[in-house]
Amino acid sequence: MGCFHFIRERNRYRKRRASAPMPSSVPMYSPTSNEVTSRSEDSTTAKQTSKSSGSVSSQKSIPELYEERAHNLRVFELKELRNATNDFSRLLKIGEGGFGSVYKGFVKPPDRKGDGTIVAIKKLNPQGLQGHKQWLAEVQFLGVVEHPNLVKLIGYCSVDSERVPQRMLVYEFMPNKSLEDHLFNRAYPSLPWSTRLQVALRAAEGLAYLHEGMDVQVIYRDFKASNVLLDEEFRPKLSDFGLAREGPSEGHTHVTTAVRMHPTALAM
Ligand SMILES: Nc1ncnc2c1ncn2[C@@H]1O[C@H](COP(=O)(O)OP(=O)(O)O)[C@@H](O)[C@H]1O
Ligand SMILES: [Mg+2]
Repeated sequence: MGCFHFIRERNRYRKRRASAPMPSSVPMYSPTSNEVTSRSEDSTTAKQTSKSSGSVSSQKSIPELYEERAHNLRVFELKELRNATNDFSRLLKIGEGGFGSVYKGFVKPPDRKGDGTIVAIKKLNPQGLQGHKQWLAEVQFLGVVEHPNLVKLIGYCSVDSERVPQRMLVYEFMPNKSLEDHLFNRAYPSLPWSTRLQVALRAAEGLAYLHEGMDVQVIYRDFKASNVLLDEEFRPKLSDFGLAREGPSEGHTHVTTAVRMHPTALAM
């Protein structure tokens, strides 16, 4: 059955990942590195506490891994993202969620040479339900994870000098919208069952990677059809890591988080 194909793929992917060199051409994450450090300190304290309670875990935390890998992310200026979206034109708006509005944009490469890339830009709504904490979590988690079934974060923008602080996230563009659109919006043709099965299996691959494919365990907590984005070949990528949490450290079995589940997850 197809499932075995996916398991083989996963094992092959893990081997490849272990030997992949880190790209080093993009700048370090600086604007909020104090915040990152303070989260690292929090987690150091947590580790010390866990050591004193008997655990001898050598596991790295997400902020620590982030410090090592932050150079994977590109730091955008506000001006660049304004240009990319025609000053956040309503004509380029492609979605709206709890975080804020999502725009389709076109960004030039960092050296301004060569072809640009089509991206999705999420602009934090300062009055929104989700805020800076989720933005930071999204940057930290997506700055660390790397898997074909997880959306790729290209970079971010963080500006405090404006009248209202600006926070943005820049992702690879997913041309086929979300699974929610294809399941519940009558404007789209019904998805064939073979595609639904592929989507479910690959989304599960993404979750399995979060749970057991890294040095650190990640609990996603926001698995719903609108967060399963689809690429040009309807391959799924999980998005939205603002609610994600690190899993329990060695010797601990419990994470103090509320379980998050959405009814649309059942429709898959
Ligand atoms: N990387 C992306 N590429 C293309 N479209 C996207 C991308 N990210 C989000 N979107 C679109 O924006 C919509 C809103 O996304 P989001 O802010 O995550 O809110 P929610 O997950 O609550 O729907 C999505 O349903 C999708 O249609
Ligand atoms: Mg989403």
